[in-house]
Amino acid sequence: VGAIDTASEADFVLRTAGYAPTCDEEKGPDYTVREVPGGFELRFTNNCDKNREIHTVLVTNDGSVTETKTEPVPPRQASPCWQAGRRPAGFERGRPPMASAKTVEERERGAYFASMAELEAAAVIAFRALYKELVSLGAPAALLARTRDAIHDEIRHTRATRALARRDGAEPAKPVVAKASTSRSVLDIALENAREGCVRETYAALVAWHQATHAEDRRVRAAMHRIADEETSHAALSWDIAEWLDGLLTESERADVRAMRAAALIELEQEIRSPLDAALTRTVGLPTPEVAAWMLGTAANALGIAV
Ligand SMILES: [Fe+2]
Ligand SMILES: [Fe+2]
Repeated sequence: VGAIDTASEADFVLRTAGYAPTCDEEKGPDYTVREVPGGFELRFTNNCDKNREIHTVLVTNDGSVTETKTEPVPPRQASPCWQAGRRPAGFERGRPPMASAKTVEERERGAYFASMAELEAAAVIAFRALYKELVSLGAPAALLARTRDAIHDEIRHTRATRALARRDGAEPAKPVVAKASTSRSVLDIALENAREGCVRETYAALVAWHQATHAEDRRVRAAMHRIADEETSHAALSWDIAEWLDGLLTESERADVRAMRAAALIELEQEIRSPLDAALTRTVGLPTPEVAAWMLGTAANALGIAV
């Protein structure tokens, strides 16, 4: 091996020393390399953040490899996209999206849509699981057909938001869902539907309508218009599923479901309080925290979700 005098040679030496600065085929989200006196300094999340450490490694021009720093991956920021809808049981947010944006605005917008695409992809998984459970409970054909439609809607939402993310050089993470080991009780299914459907998808539909009318970016308005329309039908579906599941529950279980709706409302009230970047809010048409609180409160009143 001759002298190590380029970043890609340093990267190669790093890998031969047993480090794994990659996610799939791409470099990890925190990967940076810079030339320093006598070699290259590479900073990266080893093994794509599975071991939750960021390594700083010096590769010298003569090929020696020294780790100069190991630090824990900082805690993930709260999702900038709390409104994308239904999440499956066991959902964990994946790694941050890979971004190659040129400006701060593009990076923020790309990250926003990448995060949204991840949640839309999670909604596909959630509806698939729900569909199987409804089949096994013997749900009416009409509810099953609407749930199947919702799966296809969420697949389209994933594609649409992923395209918006990629426009700004951001690549959405694949949703990570821990495998459920046992089949769930009717109550478990109803509780999840209360939180993820009756509360979160209902609110997601309202936010999507806000975006469809207020986004400064025309492509965002167009995409959100379709999403808003379909999220509205998912909200209605959630309430109809809730009504059908109610018939399988005892009186005290039904009270648990009502309590879950109230708890989910409180959780969502907390989430919408933190303001997002003002420029991002305008381009993608999100409500301000004040408007968001008003929308959520009005919807909760209309739907009789008592806190
Ligand atoms: Fe969706
Ligand atoms: Fe949805």
